[in-house]
Amino acid sequence: MGTRVVGIASGKGGVGKTTLIVNLALQLTEFGKKVLIFDADLGMANVHLAFSKSISHDLSDVLEGNVSLEETILSLSEGIDLIPGGSGVADIADLDEIGVSSIVRAFSALEGQYDYLLVDMSAGISTQVLTFLSCVHLKIVVGTNELGSISDAYSLIKVHSKHHGMENLIYLPNRVPSSKAGKKLFESVNYVTTKFLQEDLEYIGSISEDSLYCRVWDSTEPKGIIKSASNAYAELSAIVSKIEGHSAFNSEEGSKGLSFFLDGFTS
Ligand SMILES: Nc1ncnc2c1ncn2[C@@H]1O[C@H](COP(=O)(O)OP(=O)(O)OP(=O)(O)O)[C@@H](O)[C@H]1O
Ligand SMILES: [Mg+2]
Repeated sequence: MGTRVVGIASGKGGVGKTTLIVNLALQLTEFGKKVLIFDADLGMANVHLAFSKSISHDLSDVLEGNVSLEETILSLSEGIDLIPGGSGVADIADLDEIGVSSIVRAFSALEGQYDYLLVDMSAGISTQVLTFLSCVHLKIVVGTNELGSISDAYSLIKVHSKHHGMENLIYLPNRVPSSKAGKKLFESVNYVTTKFLQEDLEYIGSISEDSLYCRVWDSTEPKGIIKSASNAYAELSAIVSKIEGHSAFNSEEGSKGLSFFLDGFTS
């Protein structure tokens, strides 16, 4: 079974992508999964901060030929590693051919070493985000019930779907008052999507407003601090089960593992 690639994006920033990635990684390790996080938020990479780690090398060092991609891998916690994107890489879409081919070669070497590659993206609809979204198996667009977040999530979904359709595209409401409110938010975004784009988004649940869920940012050791008493923890467990059983990974693209991710850069 190849590495499963999940991308997390959002229209508006600050809606909870990175918090989701960190909690998702922690829960996946509870299932015994080995997780690699690629911090592709190249402007404001911050995944390492949740684990109180500092970065010595990042993707820009790889592209400059100073280190190999494997040398940038930072162990965050048991079963969770990180590839820091680095703020020096302005736009993956603008990389020259040598840059792209070195990323491709480098990621290929990691095939089979991880069960999941989780890609944390910048907010917004840059070419870079669209490139990343087009080459992951499962796409999660996170959004809150704030008006700006709803309209920006829709814009991202619309632009992405123009070129790549809506297959395996999930809209995940975050910071909602309850699961019921989360479902309602999903339905209102999906209503607009079906009306104007004639296709449905996928629903796998929502995450409630929950301070325990955010404690990954406070502690020096985030592992294990998200107690089962937390609402969001239970909601995320259900989401993880859906991701685990998702058909996207059994598709032709899914069975290609990391090479599908890499095809996206080279096509
Ligand atoms: N379910 C939640 N309940 C309460 N607070 C939350 C929840 N999810 C995220 N937050 C808080 O929202 C803030 C922004 O979260 P986060 O940094 O994960 O967003 P982001 O989408 O990655 O932002 P950026 O676009 O800047 O990368 C953080 O302070 C985080 O603790
Ligand atoms: Mg973030």
